[in-house]
Amino acid sequence: MESKVFEKLIKLQNNSYCAYSDYPVAAVLIDSDDKEFYGVNIENASYGLTICAERNAIGNAITNGSKYFKEIHIICGRNKKTFGVPCGACRQVLVEFCKKDMPVIVWNCEGKSKRYTVEELIPYSFDNEFFGKE
Ligand code: THU
Repeated sequence: MESKVFEKLIKLQNNSYCAYSDYPVAAVLIDSDDKEFYGVNIENASYGLTICAERNAIGNAITNGSKYFKEIHIICGRNKKTFGVPCGACRQVLVEFCKKDMPVIVWNCEGKSKRYTVEELIPYSFDNEFFGKE
């Protein structure tokens, strides 16, 4: 199962539009029904308009009516050994839509993975609990 996700991530990286950074990122977000939602980074000549793979995957899931998520898998760049991690903006969006103990699994390009939880990546988060929502 996990190795299948790795293969999907590697394929998905080909869809990344990373014309400026040449740093392809892909994300596979899996919901409670085991449905998968994909995202890649989409860059722009106006650099700041770039949207990361993780946020595109979340937007894709929410747009399709999915709400409860089990895990997210991410691959960053082309380096065989190094593992990427979600940027600060993506961490903030993850904590909006995912449980704090949800696994965030990052892969390197030789198929090794590391697991974090949302809370490990964004402790002391500003989130919907401040508004008395679940
Ligand atoms: N990027 C992501 O897609 N996700 C992250 O969490 C880190 C950064 C993208 C944005 C940009 O297209 C490229 O990686 C280099 O920063």
